[in-house]
Amino acid sequence: MTQRKPFFYDVTLRDGNQALAKPWNTEEKVQVFNQLVKLGVQGIEVGFAGASDMDFAACEHLAKMAPDDIVISGLARAMEKDIAKVWEAIQYANQPRIHTFIATAPFNMEHVLRKSPQEVLKKAEEAVRISKSYVGDQGTVQFSAEHFGDCRENLDFVIDVFHAVVEAGATTINLPNTVERYRPMLFVEMVAKVVEALPNNIDVAVHAHNDLGMATATTVESYFAGAVQVETALNGLGERAGNTNMYEVALGLHNCGVDVPLNLEHIYETALLVSDWGDLRIPDKAPIIGPEAIAHRSGIHQDGAAKTKGMSKGAYRPIDFNLIGRGDNDLITFTSQSGRTAVYEMIGNMGYPISLEEATELQPVLKEISEREGELNEERVLEIFKNEYVNVGSYLKFTSVNGIRDEEVFEFKFKRGNEILQERISAEGPIEACLRLLRELGYSVELKDYSQSVVSDKDKDWGGRALSEIELKSKDKIAVGRGVHNDTLVANMKALFTAANLLFHKFEPVK
Ligand code: KIV
Ligand code: ZN
Repeated sequence: MTQRKPFFYDVTLRDGNQALAKPWNTEEKVQVFNQLVKLGVQGIEVGFAGASDMDFAACEHLAKMAPDDIVISGLARAMEKDIAKVWEAIQYANQPRIHTFIATAPFNMEHVLRKSPQEVLKKAEEAVRISKSYVGDQGTVQFSAEHFGDCRENLDFVIDVFHAVVEAGATTINLPNTVERYRPMLFVEMVAKVVEALPNNIDVAVHAHNDLGMATATTVESYFAGAVQVETALNGLGERAGNTNMYEVALGLHNCGVDVPLNLEHIYETALLVSDWGDLRIPDKAPIIGPEAIAHRSGIHQDGAAKTKGMSKGAYRPIDFNLIGRGDNDLITFTSQSGRTAVYEMIGNMGYPISLEEATELQPVLKEISEREGELNEERVLEIFKNEYVNVGSYLKFTSVNGIRDEEVFEFKFKRGNEILQERISAEGPIEACLRLLRELGYSVELKDYSQSVVSDKDKDWGGRALSEIELKSKDKIAVGRGVHNDTLVANMKALFTAANLLFHKFEPVK
């Protein structure tokens, strides 16, 4: 079987809309419609024109504004009055489609329609014939066997119905899993039988509801079984637990190498807009679009995500989230399960690159705090890091330095514990002077490295200030002191005092 490109037929404006607590009016439907056009879907079911005057008006309006290359369809029960109404509304589209349906499952025929299978077959055939008489050569007719998922025991009869409606003019046969009750592969097997039974020029569609949470699996696998039209909804809107979510199907197919005819980069923006328009919050754990879909919390996952950052395939990442217009690929927060990678990544992301040694040292401190406070976000982690590693004045506290004009002498004011001290040091420059001061105070230190930059704007308190990073060595111990200040000279001094505190007084309480 040669695989055809999937045909994305969106049902948000019909199945999605009919399930909203407050269905959309024309203006609201236009917003959603424009977003569907932006996404590049091939077909849009604009509504159920017979349901209300409001929906009729919306269907008519959308049919008039529809781009020529999109199939515009309206839903009708297998009844002449519904069909006529649909045609009245959608006749203005370049590619109009009447979509008519009737239940074919034994339970529904007996208890809801109260008709024999033969009566149902006749009604289906008639409905399609009438629909075809309206659309003529200008449009197409789609027939749905409602509750197809419940038709396992009478599948031969349903296939007879399909042959009859194809004969009457239907060119798309839709197989709805109107209520999801069983496992996807049972449905997919039935799809494959229908595909085999129908002529090649007939498009088979699948329309899956998500009652057991498996609609995406059903739809994706049905495509591989020969269904070409996939009926999906934005944000998975639809009756009860909704219709198949468009984004999940699109990415499921994309990941399997299918050429998906959608502008995937608009997915995330669409999801946020639809959540607002439908007044339905995106669940935290929703695949692809949920706030949590990019979050990594355990140490192992954070390490894998960090090591594969920037790669299109991530260790714990289903897709490259840039593909759907979602800029951030990974959200790393700190919990009591997190390791040093989280510390390293989070502080680095906030504009303070640190070493893995420092991250290793800080991890238990953060772990203890997060056991008390719960999850720590980047701002909180940065705050703790700054308390521990930047402008540290725990024992030695820098106050000021003044160069005495023309004398190469520097006067320092500082505190050692609770003592307030003042010292004059001769040196060619302030850094040299500060190193000498530290040595005079008994700290044998050697300058190993020095750099100065600007604090990133991600640090809301100190962004834009000078950041000095000075590495001092004493015997076999090394510490990087960081100083931040508006004045670059003060930033340098604070960095040197910080390094001395880290080397000699890390856990010394102020007396
Ligand atoms: O779920 C369903 O069976 C439907 C049909 C009308 C196609 O929405
Ligand atoms: Zn439905």
